[in-house]
Amino acid sequence: MLTAETILHQKEFLALSGVDLAGFGPRQQGKVRDFYELPGKHRLLITTDRQSAFDRILGLIPFKGQVLNQLSQFWFEQTADIVPNHFISTPDPNVMLVRQAEMFPVEIIVRGYLTGVTDTSIWVMYQQGQRRMYGLDFPDGMRKNQPLPDPILTPTTHAELGGHDRPLSRNEIIQEGLVSKALYTQVEEAALAVFKRGQELCRKAGLILVDTKYEFGLIEGQVALTDEVHTPDSSRFWLAETYQERFDRNEEPENFDKELLRLWLRSQGYKGEGEPPALDDEITVRLSQRYIACYERITGREFQPDLEQTPEARISRNLKELNYGTGRD
Ligand SMILES: Nc1ncnc2c1ncn2[C@@H]1O[C@H](COP(=O)(O)OP(=O)(O)O)[C@@H](O)[C@H]1O
Ligand SMILES: [Mg+2]
Repeated sequence: MLTAETILHQKEFLALSGVDLAGFGPRQQGKVRDFYELPGKHRLLITTDRQSAFDRILGLIPFKGQVLNQLSQFWFEQTADIVPNHFISTPDPNVMLVRQAEMFPVEIIVRGYLTGVTDTSIWVMYQQGQRRMYGLDFPDGMRKNQPLPDPILTPTTHAELGGHDRPLSRNEIIQEGLVSKALYTQVEEAALAVFKRGQELCRKAGLILVDTKYEFGLIEGQVALTDEVHTPDSSRFWLAETYQERFDRNEEPENFDKELLRLWLRSQGYKGEGEPPALDDEITVRLSQRYIACYERITGREFQPDLEQTPEARISRNLKELNYGTGRD
């Protein structure tokens, strides 16, 4: 486990806020990733240490970018037999070279449990009295954090920056022409199969994969898994060992994801409106350690931090070998 001192030193000198690459065309930015579109329908996804919540950037969490990048790589490799994906290579611990996809305008959320905290989560909707959600029927008398008989798909619109995701049913997706029926059926099958694989592998690591978000698109006309997979940013994980006894006692499960950030924000009195509080040293260290622990537990590998080099310089150097750059700014 990296010490608080190491993590805070890294934050001060070596955390990755973004990279301006020369010779790779215009830099584009999501909340967490910087990306560059390359010739040959390729794309560089650079996962930074930016920490977002409530669609805002709160600060930098050292090593988070590397964890997300390498954990996604692990899952692309572990699920490649189920559905094609965008992964080509990881030329740097924070960078993935991928195939550019024509993205579907929906986010595919798969849920194994009745839980959640946002307006589009099935627990919040269920608690408000809804019994038909995402085109599916739910019985009365269910309890928070209870497993669903089978995992379900709860797609939402992929909202533009600042917008709000809207729940969709399968019929709406097809009738509104967002995705054709034939392709959407393939997406559903792939999402459920990848989720099942995710649950199995997490279980071996003592974790419950509770729910997750996927982004699918078309690569050379084929349905393909893109973006990130089964990371603490896109997924909820609980500790398997204590789940049942805590559920029986009406206690919240022990989380193993970034729930501790949501809880910390709440303890600071922040509910998603206005200026968010800056991340202090304590929560920074806890989050960094949590991301690394997720990586190590799921992959069974030891996390290899780079405590020496400036990530921007290292990335530029590693990308030179790709021979994409024109050498000009
Ligand atoms: N293979 C791909 N082809 C095209 N776009 C992709 C691919 N993989 C991921 N993306 C997109 O790249 C961006 C990644 O940046 P990110 O910081 O995660 O964005 P966001 O703030 O939307 O979550 C997202 O817009 C995602 O939809
Ligand atoms: Mg994203």
